[in-house]
Amino acid sequence: MVTRVFPSAAALARALAVDVARALKSNPRLVLGLPAGRTPIPVYAELIRLHRARRADFRRATAFNLDEFIGVGAQHPGSYRAFMRRNLFDHINLPRPQAMAPRGETRDVARECVRYERAIERAGGIDLQILGLGVNGHVGFNEPAAALIARTHRARLRPRTRRANAGLFAGRVNAVPREAISMGMATILGARRLVLIATGASKAVAVRRLIEGPVTTRVPASLLQLHPRAEVWVDRDAASRLRGARAVALRRLRRSRRGRSRGRRATATARAST
Ligand code: GLP
Repeated sequence: MVTRVFPSAAALARALAVDVARALKSNPRLVLGLPAGRTPIPVYAELIRLHRARRADFRRATAFNLDEFIGVGAQHPGSYRAFMRRNLFDHINLPRPQAMAPRGETRDVARECVRYERAIERAGGIDLQILGLGVNGHVGFNEPAAALIARTHRARLRPRTRRANAGLFAGRVNAVPREAISMGMATILGARRLVLIATGASKAVAVRRLIEGPVTTRVPASLLQLHPRAEVWVDRDAASRLRGARAVALRRLRRSRRGRSRGRRATATARAST
């Protein structure tokens, strides 16, 4: 896995938005997989900026949301679909029928999961899947467990995960649904390229376990180690618990920043491969 360490969350967001814009340029029919959560918000803001500057055209692209709460409709302000509209889709030219998401309001969850898998298949699979990271190492709503369900499925949320999502429900943890529909790890690993993003010190332990720990369903994000084109993009705080080659990259980044403050030119990112 390639790890990229950025000096700040803002630098990471700028670089990822430019990367997505470039991918859209070389393939206007790009199929994106997109997460909700606080981490991608600056990335979406940068994508909106690039779109306004005519540097990102989504007209022929398709987007698949990673997950959605069960029991909330698309119009519910707490739904991930509403989140994506507020933070991205309302501000870019992605045609609405090309913005896909699991229908959390469905009365037949099992059937909805199959429909969603088929929709991804029909679109030709996901070209670029962007992922966030839960503090417990979850991805989408694939929570740590002894065993995971491979494909899109009904997921039960951990209390900690519900607390982390309370902001979408006016801070009321009890209002956060107990279940969600989530792409499974096999669905996620089916993407041609993965970029997991994590920022802030609260993610540092999960980042270390994901990159340097064993592959285990107890840290669902660690399964990314099995993917030939998985990248982990982090800011310095999220990288602060890394050891080995990545710690070297982090030190290099710190040195280059010191160099820059002395007026020298510095690279914005430090890379380390496994
Ligand atoms: C949520 C979502 C994930 C998200 C993660 C981290 O529960 N289901 O898709 O990546 O938690 O969220 P945040 O970026 O707000 O820390």
